[in-house]
Amino acid sequence: MNMEQVLIRKAAERSAVLGVVGLGYVGLPLAVEFATAGYRVLGFDVKQGVVDTINAGRSHIQDVPSERLAKFVKDRRIEATSDLKRLGEVDLVSICVPTPLSKTKDPDVSFVLASADAVGRTIRAGQVVVLESTTYPGTTRELLMPRIEAGGLKVGVDVFLAFSPERVDPGNPTWQTHNTPKVFGGVTEACNRVVRAIYSPAFERLVPVSSPEAAELVKLLENTFRSVNIGLVNEMAIVCDKLGVDVWEVIDAAASKPFGFMKFTPGPGLGGHCIPIDPHYLAWKMRGLNYKTRFIEVAGEVNSEMPIFWVRKVADRLNDSGKAVRGSKVLVIGVAYKKDIDDIRESPALDVLRLLHQQGAVVSYHDPYIAKVDEDGEQLQSVPLTEDLVRSSDCVVIVTDHSELDYGMIRGAAPCVVDTRNALRAHA
Ligand SMILES: NC(=O)c1ccc[n+]([C@@H]2O[C@H](COP(=O)([O-])OP(=O)(O)OC[C@H]3O[C@@H](n4cnc5c(N)ncnc54)[C@H](O)[C@@H]3O)[C@@H](O)[C@H]2O)c1
Repeated sequence: MNMEQVLIRKAAERSAVLGVVGLGYVGLPLAVEFATAGYRVLGFDVKQGVVDTINAGRSHIQDVPSERLAKFVKDRRIEATSDLKRLGEVDLVSICVPTPLSKTKDPDVSFVLASADAVGRTIRAGQVVVLESTTYPGTTRELLMPRIEAGGLKVGVDVFLAFSPERVDPGNPTWQTHNTPKVFGGVTEACNRVVRAIYSPAFERLVPVSSPEAAELVKLLENTFRSVNIGLVNEMAIVCDKLGVDVWEVIDAAASKPFGFMKFTPGPGLGGHCIPIDPHYLAWKMRGLNYKTRFIEVAGEVNSEMPIFWVRKVADRLNDSGKAVRGSKVLVIGVAYKKDIDDIRESPALDVLRLLHQQGAVVSYHDPYIAKVDEDGEQLQSVPLTEDLVRSSDCVVIVTDHSELDYGMIRGAAPCVVDTRNALRAHA
């Protein structure tokens, strides 16, 4: 039996042990899906606190209920470790580490490189490596493959390598890891066959493509598509504001067209670990090939200026009632980057807080999911959302439209509201 056949048999028997490197928003749900499919999972993380929490059966990720995780930990189907030397024990390594941007908005692939080095030190014949972190096209072949083949093993024969973009949408109750179609692209056809065999028990639908580069670009197209369309409606919000037209009315009416229109909504700007970041990976790659990705640049510009637009709205509304921003009490509602989640990474609310603060407003915030925020060394704590607080604020800015908030109370009590999400009308 060759290595491909061995792995396909292990997948069919569920005797393959699957490794997940990076147990965060992406890695932990993936580990749980692998365990649900009947595999034993060994999870790796450099943070000992994360490892200890998981081994105690507690989940630090909102989308993974602790009861579900605890059962797998108790049955020894999921174990976590910070000992990357144990990578040699697993049959498949799924790499789910962060891919942020540097200060100059260039890709920071240091986490991917650290994982690739760790895999390179322990690789043995009969292992599969799948990169899941969002990255620029070429990463799998240029950064992982040389490290995997350095000791003489051949990808496609002795070991198998693919890219498979993680598409998890935190907080989405309908589309989760197991029922979101899983795209993957291997270096060779044998790589695709092996990944298909191992992944098919864990995912409802698999979508193979012909190369890692195609799979890498799928993810970048998806997130660039969102960034550009959000940029377009954000610009439409500015246009409508200048024309004195209600942008929400225009969008809702446009969305009645049953074909050729897809609804996107304006807001305070982009947040999270994906949409504000991923398109810049592609832009960076293309700059190296002397091509400027214009849509990405323009959308990035419009989206990153939205907090300025909304803070100007606050100033205008205060001005209407004869007040200056300086010294006014401004209550920001919601600081997570989107509703009903506890993630504040890249949240535009941080810019809104900072800009208001810089202009001398007395700023407080409420967010049921985020207890405290550290912005420019300033610590703010979430305050309880009482009617008194809302009534005594000079202006309330709704930045994140969490479902559980009492919008009726806000509408009734606030002297002035700037609603970046149209939440008051949506909850009327
Ligand atoms: N969060 C999302 O909604 C989302 C959705 C789709 C894709 N992605 C992509 O998935 C990847 C992971 O994102 P995330 O949100 O899960 O990040 P995260 O920060 O929640 O989790 C990453 C984990 O990796 C660990 N880690 C870092 N370096 C490591 C190393 N060398 N070895 C082992 N563990 C290491 C960290 O300690 C952390 O626990 C990124 O590329 C991201 O763009 C994220």
